[in-house]
Amino acid sequence: MKKYWKILKKYRASLWLSPFLVFIGVVGETIQPYFMARIVDDGVMQNDLSVITRTGILMIAVSILGLTASVINIYVSSRTSIGFGTDLRSSLFRKIQQLAFPDIDYFSSASLITRLTNDVTRIQQVIMMSMRIMLRAPMMLVMAIFFIIHINTDLALILTASVPLLAISVYLILRKGFPFFLIVQQKIDALNGVVRENLINIRVVKSFVREDFETEKFVRNSEDLRDMVIKASNIIVAMFPMMQLIMNLSILAILWFGGVKVMSGQLLVGELISFVNYLMQVLMGLMMLSMVIMTYARASASSKRIVEVLDKEPSLSDTPEGQQGHHAIREGRVSFRNVSFRYTGGETDVLRQIDFDVQPGETIAVVGMTGSGKSSMLQLIPRLYDVTGGQVLIDGRNVKDYALDELHHKVGVVLQKNELFTGTIGENLRWGNANATAEEVEEAARAAEAHDFIASFPDGYDTVLGRGGVNISGGQKQRLCIARALLRKPKVLILDDSTSAVDSETELKIRSNLNRLLKDTTLFIITQRIHTMQSADRVIVLEDGEIDAIGRPEELMLSSTIYQEIYNSQRNT
Ligand SMILES: Nc1ncnc2c1ncn2[C@@H]1O[C@H](COP(=O)(O)OP(=O)(O)O)[C@@H](O)[C@H]1O
Ligand SMILES: [Mg+2]
Repeated sequence: MKKYWKILKKYRASLWLSPFLVFIGVVGETIQPYFMARIVDDGVMQNDLSVITRTGILMIAVSILGLTASVINIYVSSRTSIGFGTDLRSSLFRKIQQLAFPDIDYFSSASLITRLTNDVTRIQQVIMMSMRIMLRAPMMLVMAIFFIIHINTDLALILTASVPLLAISVYLILRKGFPFFLIVQQKIDALNGVVRENLINIRVVKSFVREDFETEKFVRNSEDLRDMVIKASNIIVAMFPMMQLIMNLSILAILWFGGVKVMSGQLLVGELISFVNYLMQVLMGLMMLSMVIMTYARASASSKRIVEVLDKEPSLSDTPEGQQGHHAIREGRVSFRNVSFRYTGGETDVLRQIDFDVQPGETIAVVGMTGSGKSSMLQLIPRLYDVTGGQVLIDGRNVKDYALDELHHKVGVVLQKNELFTGTIGENLRWGNANATAEEVEEAARAAEAHDFIASFPDGYDTVLGRGGVNISGGQKQRLCIARALLRKPKVLILDDSTSAVDSETELKIRSNLNRLLKDTTLFIITQRIHTMQSADRVIVLEDGEIDAIGRPEELMLSSTIYQEIYNSQRNT
């Protein structure tokens, strides 16, 4: 709540203004039956046209005033809630940008998207609702009851019987229906989750031909939701006649007792009519109140999910020394000192006793079976994850003592699963370094063997990628990702299987370009290809989270059985 208040503070003026507007609107509305009574009793019954005209004009004036206030309040509340929603979404987005890889693992991308969209929208609706009817409902109740008592205290007694009855039936509906509404909400969330996850991974779904499986999952969730909604509305449907009955009985009672009073001259006809109207308003007030409570409860789950993200401290942050940002990475010497690593929530260490030193400018091939920890190991260098034991050093200094900014600028990573953004090719490349000149962009593209295919597009570097633009192959995408990383002129460059979709010949060219262009850059290449292993300065062989062997390729050919196995298996393919 404190988090929300920080954002809402900006809209303080509107939040103060709104209750007054609501009050004027409610008075304008609840006074109408009173005027009607006057018109009937003092005008119609007394044959006095001037009273009808005068009261009529007053009625219209008050009604216009009330409606104007209501309209202004709708405007104010829309502006406030939409503004609040936008601000909340921005601060949530900003927070997500600060989160580290382990945090994203924890929340999952699909869930973060739901939180950014659905959940924020729901909170936004609650703000709007609060400003429009949260106060309106009780005010209306109080005003209507006030007028009823003002007209005739005896008849007001009927209220003391019927209002509790109505209140009880509203309460029953709520208590019965409430759990169902909450479940409905959860089912909607589940369905959203399924859809989002499916869409994010649609390529995987398609490539594994799992459309049927996924569709079935969707249908299952969808039908779950349907059944729950039906159950929930059944309760409402069952309760409505009951409310209607109580309502009608109340009106009947009023007409009965009121009729008796009218006949004995204790009550006027107009007053009786207005009485019935007020009873309707009381009921309206009760219904609105129940709606408000329901919306709040539904939104509380959303709120919890939003606050959870806002409260999440990024699990990687600068050490006090890092925050000062004194240190710069100049050479690119990388050392692992007895490093072990475990993913948050993981049961075992995926890396153990990792120890090695890499000289500036060296090219290191990292090989090993899938799941042996290659990606995990190299992600520790730019602190995408933090070690759980030991130390990673760059230029002899613990990576935690560099500002994260410096670290991420000087250590370039092309991840196994890399993505480009919607936009032109040029924009995507410059994303790595906004100040790069056209020559630098082209140089990087040439080094990544991307220039030729870029130049083959009619729009060249201005070719739009993604939505509405051209689609490029996986290999082309990988080359653009490499070029993007090169533009940063990193001191350490990590290529995580980044040329897997590029043919061997092109890969060879890229490698020799890199050697030329980034002579002093330390290069880590995770690879499956023999010639890449063979042309590296040294090779690290990982086996089940531990270093099996490390050395020059020709040494490993003699000493490491795993290296020989990988070598042989590759040669045969
Ligand atoms: N984000 C993650 N959260 C939890 N466990 C992970 C994560 N990424 C990888 N792992 C696990 O860590 C181990 C090493 O994976 P990884 O480093 O990706 O291997 P490689 O790159 O050699 O194929 C595997 O057992 C894998 O299941
Ligand atoms: Mg990997």
